[in-house]
Amino acid sequence: MKALVIAVDGFASCGKSTLARDLAQALGYRYIDSGAMYRAVTYQMLELGLPPIESVGLDQMLGALDLKFVTSNGINQLMVNGLVLVSELRSKAVNAAVSPVSTLPSVRLAMVALQRSYADGTGLTMDGRDIGTHVFPQADLKFFVSARPEVRAKRRQAELIASGDTSWTLDEILENQAQRDLIDSNRDFAPLKRAEDAIDLDNSDLSREEQLAWALKWVEERGGI
Ligand code: DC
Repeated sequence: MKALVIAVDGFASCGKSTLARDLAQALGYRYIDSGAMYRAVTYQMLELGLPPIESVGLDQMLGALDLKFVTSNGINQLMVNGLVLVSELRSKAVNAAVSPVSTLPSVRLAMVALQRSYADGTGLTMDGRDIGTHVFPQADLKFFVSARPEVRAKRRQAELIASGDTSWTLDEILENQAQRDLIDSNRDFAPLKRAEDAIDLDNSDLSREEQLAWALKWVEERGGI
């Protein structure tokens, strides 16, 4: 029995973070939402008025950026330069800019270095786009998650409404989702791609509990605790 590194990759809003978070909770592992890190960088760039291109300003911002995951009321949140940001990271402006920002090599290099530092042997689940292919190619267990586009858009809408944001129509969400899928899959540097040794999960018709139970069987199969 050992503490595993578990990579959960897939398209936007297909339940990756729910699965990674539930696994971490069930196993007593650390959970890292790598998408939140790219969102934090995007938020900072928008705050500073930096365009989504490589620049000296971007290098300076990345050099000074302090990202920390903190647990507050049992919820894992991201502290960005001393401030806990939640709805700020899910705003329309951040959603529109995050994929272009995530194509920038300097941004990816900085985030990947930080992501790798979280694997300290005590058990880790991380969700994202390139976790199984690039961040942890030697991960003990890799899931590639998908769900039908309408199912994904409805989940994102429910999430936004729960966070108090009722400004999105389902069509807007579907369009943003399709655009992000396209950019995330086609960028040059570490694109979203299924790792060859990943296990596929289409969770369109699975409940949260069913998905977790299914994944835990794989953890057991890999000798995880
Ligand atoms: O998982 P999410 O929707 O919060 O991710 C937001 C964006 O961040 C996504 O559109 C692409 C980028 N991202 C990435 O490029 N690599 C990752 N490992 C995670 C997210």
